[in-house]
Amino acid sequence: MSPTIHIDPARHVAPVDPRIYSGFTEHMGRCIYSGIYDPDNAHGLADANGYRTDVLQALKDLNVPVVRYPGGNFVSSYRWQDGVGPKELRPRRPELAWLTEESNQFGTDEFIAWCRLLGAEPYICLNMGTGTLEDALAWLEYCNSSANTHYANMRRKNGHEAPYGVKYWALGNEIWGPWQVGQMDAVDYSKQAYQWAKAMRLLDPTIQLVSCGETGFADWDRVTLKTLAPVVDFHSIHLYTVSEGNHDVNVMGPAAAEKGLEITKALIELAKIEGNLTKDITVCFDEWNVWDPVRAPGEKGAEEHYDLSDALAVASWLNVFVRKADIVKIACIAQSVNVISPIITSPTGLFKQTTYYPLQLFAILMQGTALSLHVGVSTPEDDTYTGPTVPPFVARLSVHTEPAARATKWLDASAVLSPDKTQIRVALVNRHKTAPVSVPIHFGPNAAVGAEVEVYEVWSGELEDRNGFEGEKVKTVRRTDGWQGAYECKEHSFQVLVFTLV
Ligand code: AHR
Repeated sequence: MSPTIHIDPARHVAPVDPRIYSGFTEHMGRCIYSGIYDPDNAHGLADANGYRTDVLQALKDLNVPVVRYPGGNFVSSYRWQDGVGPKELRPRRPELAWLTEESNQFGTDEFIAWCRLLGAEPYICLNMGTGTLEDALAWLEYCNSSANTHYANMRRKNGHEAPYGVKYWALGNEIWGPWQVGQMDAVDYSKQAYQWAKAMRLLDPTIQLVSCGETGFADWDRVTLKTLAPVVDFHSIHLYTVSEGNHDVNVMGPAAAEKGLEITKALIELAKIEGNLTKDITVCFDEWNVWDPVRAPGEKGAEEHYDLSDALAVASWLNVFVRKADIVKIACIAQSVNVISPIITSPTGLFKQTTYYPLQLFAILMQGTALSLHVGVSTPEDDTYTGPTVPPFVARLSVHTEPAARATKWLDASAVLSPDKTQIRVALVNRHKTAPVSVPIHFGPNAAVGAEVEVYEVWSGELEDRNGFEGEKVKTVRRTDGWQGAYECKEHSFQVLVFTLV
């Protein structure tokens, strides 16, 4: 391989929105119960209200700015009213997404209090399956109203005088999916969501609304955007990359998300032209991750045990969001705890998965302004992967078709100018299984960097290496190297390089 990186510090793509490092907590598997909430507290890890303090700390270390709740598929048969008020009066209900029972011991008030402890903004997804517009308005009134009205007073009676001011509200979850309670076609959904958006805004004009999108490259996205563009602030995309154990497919999968973002950007432009709109509409990528539902089925709690290959895939995902900083303003890793998550808990502690470390490095270092970056290659046959980016079984599913994302470079990168404009930071993934590579990095004629580079590296000998309760094989190692114009990049490695401008 012979790639060269060219960065132009004068060419700014867009500010990196810190909300691209957001999270998602669904009533699914062990995410809420025994993940973030453990009121029995048999091992002293929870606070007086039952919140796991070790989990809170691990998430605080990820700087999570926004958390989506309560689903996911769960929300489409969720009655939010069951989850507020005295706990002993809250009904247990059958739960239709994951075929379990919901105790309702954790609900809206507990979620908001937890977000406050975390320092994150809540983002609520509405039930457009079994729920009515009346329920949705009642939920908004409960959360945000300062009036002397029924649901605002219910919140006060439950001990919360001040309105919560929940800013982000999603108009349903994956309404296009056959697994969704209340599945609709794009036209029916758009008509209904338009009316819901109108009424929600009448009650609280300050909220920001998210339309339910698909992959970003589906006809659903085109049809719904056309109708909903006048009334929404964000269009959502959901995509999981799947590998069936094939490393190359695993790490190249995020190319589909990049294509989806490009297509969605164009669809938004088109909807704005057709609707004569000047407002901003951007993407809320509110579910993304590596998830193989055969390996970790949703009905069994979707607990993935990630390896180094998955960590490199997550780093490639995050490179996509930085490169597309102009269009993606919120992205929520699905999910935050236990369920397809970078954090796994037991009653007595937690461990950080391999995927935790790239996420943390991005959340801390890849902030500021995304810069124009080009990976040049002189030997495309060596530097480029030309196989599929989804495994055959996914390619056969009509809802997850592969966009034209073949011919992807082994070396994947993004760059930012730090918020204080003193550093250039480069996130670099060498996705090749076996080939180390020497990577010259050019900063253009008008920028000079210091004689040292700070390196934050995530690497391990075997792609199959994992972390566990017994210890962490894959984590960040920090060092300082001398800088002479090229970086010696290990095979199957991720690193953030921090250069100081001089
Ligand atoms: O995150 C797990 C599930 O994946 C969510 O509930 C659903 O929205 C998606 O299909």
